[in-house]
Amino acid sequence: MSTSLYERLGESTGIRALVDAIVVRHLKNPAISKRYEPLAGDPERLEEVTQHLCDFLEAGTGGPATYKGKNMVEAHRGMNISGEEYIAVLDDIVGAMQEREVDEATQKDILFIAYSLKPEIVRL
Ligand code: HEM
Repeated sequence: MSTSLYERLGESTGIRALVDAIVVRHLKNPAISKRYEPLAGDPERLEEVTQHLCDFLEAGTGGPATYKGKNMVEAHRGMNISGEEYIAVLDDIVGAMQEREVDEATQKDILFIAYSLKPEIVRL
């Protein structure tokens, strides 16, 4: 049997470290940091969203977690997210994967999944 994407990401521990690295980048990325400022000032909510991101990624890559957050349309509706902001999020995901030394094939698989969610997130 082939190795799942979840396993290739280092299971729950690797996913948590990857998501933490992505969140750090979002908070510093001038193209999108304003979007995440309210979370930066509210540690409980930041932890809740971080955990939701971990569960979303884990459930979507073949891991055992159950995602209990909003679906992508509900989570981003009304934010009027632009294509540029979407690319900025993808930049941070790639940057964090490189920093974590995720192998290139896995990076491509994650990027493909992330890109495919664009119609559920941009300008809703
Ligand atoms: C691959 C692309 C993306 C994925 C997989 C994703 C995933 C998620 C998830 C799982 C949540 C948590 C929802 C919840 O807690 O119920 C969330 C929240 C959020 N997302 Fe995204 N997102 C993406 C792109 C974006 C973009 C491009 C922006 C804007 C720059 C953005 C801004 C936000 C914000 C501000 C929240 C927090 C909302 C709150 O406080 O409840 N997301 N996202």
